[in-house]
Amino acid sequence: MASFDIDTYLARSGAVDLWAVDWAGVPKHPLPPGAIRTLRYMQDIESHTIVYLRSLLATRAIDDPDVATFLACWVHEETFHGLALERFLAAAGHPMGPRPKPHGHENFAQWFEARFTALLSRLWPDFCAVHMTWGAINELSTLTAYRRLMALANHPVLSTLLERITLDESRHFFFYYRQAERRMQRRAVARVARLIVDRFWAPVGSGVQPDGELIFMARYLFSDDEGRVAVRKVDDTIRRLPGFASVRLLEAWMHRYARAADGDGGSNGHGQH
Ligand SMILES: [Fe+2]
Ligand SMILES: [Fe+2]
Repeated sequence: MASFDIDTYLARSGAVDLWAVDWAGVPKHPLPPGAIRTLRYMQDIESHTIVYLRSLLATRAIDDPDVATFLACWVHEETFHGLALERFLAAAGHPMGPRPKPHGHENFAQWFEARFTALLSRLWPDFCAVHMTWGAINELSTLTAYRRLMALANHPVLSTLLERITLDESRHFFFYYRQAERRMQRRAVARVARLIVDRFWAPVGSGVQPDGELIFMARYLFSDDEGRVAVRKVDDTIRRLPGFASVRLLEAWMHRYARAADGDGGSNGHGQH
């Protein structure tokens, strides 16, 4: 993997061009019901990025000029992912409609998590290593999920749109991964980061969307042979980070909560890690 250059990232950063998408072509091709349900989950999570940013701004993340610059571009790009998926679903005849609760609404667990993160960041100067590792895991699993969705949905307009979105996701992943790698060269930092990931990590969207939706999406995208290979690749990549050689992430989560043979679909993936 090459080194990360913030200037190159800035030169390539930009929003998805919503005018360039063939919206009129969307209803001309069938879309599997599983893909629609998965897209609804993804749209909600993409548009939740602004809320995630709120808790990030309360941490040391913005003390580093490269991280601050990256985050400004990142939130811009993620916002457009949300808008593009929203338009796609509307064009396909499945508009999102209003959320039961606005994105800014926090339940007690989310409020506590944000405060705990801010406090930990204040107490521990290397907290940013956790944030960067977390970002790398989430971006890589998002990227992998979009690639699986492209293959399963087999819808030409969706594929073109997701090709464009995954370009952004892979650049996001690259930034976070390189930052995490650099910050965890110190063993003590890597050890604490690993402890936190082991204890608290759950897939993107846990606690934002109902657990049943997360489990449905995970099964839809990752239950077949290609899905299982994709999941293993995510974990293998994260295992190359310093101190993470034995970490168990998506594959273990899938095994625990989203095995295709399980019939309940409602067991909880959040808060138990
Ligand atoms: Fe995104
Ligand atoms: Fe991203």
